[in-house]
Amino acid sequence: MKSIKDIESASLYIKDIFKDNIDIAVVLGSGLGKLVEFIEEPIKIKYSNIPGFPKSTVKGHAGEMIIGKINGKNILAMNGRFHYYEGYSLNTITFPIRVIKNLGIEKLIITNAAGGMNPNFEAGDLMIINDHINVMGDSPLIGKNYDELGPRFPDMSKAYCKEYISLANTVAEELNIKVRNGIYAPVSGPTYETPAELRYLRLIGGDAVGMSTVPEVIVANHMSMKVLGISVITDMALADNLEPLDHTRVMETANKATDKFVKLVAGIINKM
Ligand code: HPA
Repeated sequence: MKSIKDIESASLYIKDIFKDNIDIAVVLGSGLGKLVEFIEEPIKIKYSNIPGFPKSTVKGHAGEMIIGKINGKNILAMNGRFHYYEGYSLNTITFPIRVIKNLGIEKLIITNAAGGMNPNFEAGDLMIINDHINVMGDSPLIGKNYDELGPRFPDMSKAYCKEYISLANTVAEELNIKVRNGIYAPVSGPTYETPAELRYLRLIGGDAVGMSTVPEVIVANHMSMKVLGISVITDMALADNLEPLDHTRVMETANKATDKFVKLVAGIINKM
C-alpha cells in the first residue's frame, strides 16, 4: 500500500523537472500514444525513473510521462498505464493518479481500447464513457483510507463529469467526428471474454468491455477530480457473432482510429 509520503516523493521528483502548473492530465490507452507527437516542447520522464512507479509490462505501452503544451495548455500525458492483470494491486496501478492530483491537476482524460458490445457500434468508433459498471471484482480503495485524500465512502453519482460529456459531444460535432456514448464495463483480464460472459456484460448494461480505466476513475473521484473517459472500440465483442481476437488486432484498429482520436482529444483540451 502506497503512503502519502510515496505520493509526495514522486510528485516532488516531477516538480523538480517541470515547475509550471499543469492544467490537464491524459492517460493514453493501448495503441493511442500518437497524441504525444502533438505535444509541444515535450519533456519526457520514464516511469522507471519516478520514485514509487511500477514498471509497465505490456507491448505497445511505452511507459513514460510527457509534459508539454497542446493548444497553449500545459498537459501531462501518460503514455502507457499499469493494469490489474500485470499482477499489481489496484492500489499500485492507480498510484500515478494520486501523483497527478498531488501535482495540482484537477482535470483528467482517461482513454482506453475496448470491445464494442452494443450492436450499433462498429470497430474504429470512439465512445464517450457516460458511466461504468465495475465488474473487476476489486476496488483500489480497499484497505486503509487516507482521509487527507478523500472520504472512506466516496460518492460515484457523477463519476464522469456531465459537463465534460457534453463538451466532448459538442467538440466531436464541430469537428465532424462521429462519437458514441455508452457504459464501460471492465473485467480483470488478461483473457478476452467468452460469449457467455459477453452476454452477461451486455445484459447488465455494458456497451463496451475492457480491462482498465475504472480503477483510475474511482481513485480520481475519491479525490474529487473531474473525469472524462473515451474508449476506442477496437473490435466488436458480440456474444452471438464473436470472432477470435488477439492483441495485435486491438492495436491495429486503435492505430487506425488514432487520427480522429487525436483530433478529438486536442479539440477537447482546447476547451476544457
Ligand atoms: N475485451 C476486453 N478488452 C478489450 C477488448 C475486448 O474485446 N478489446 C480491447 N480491449
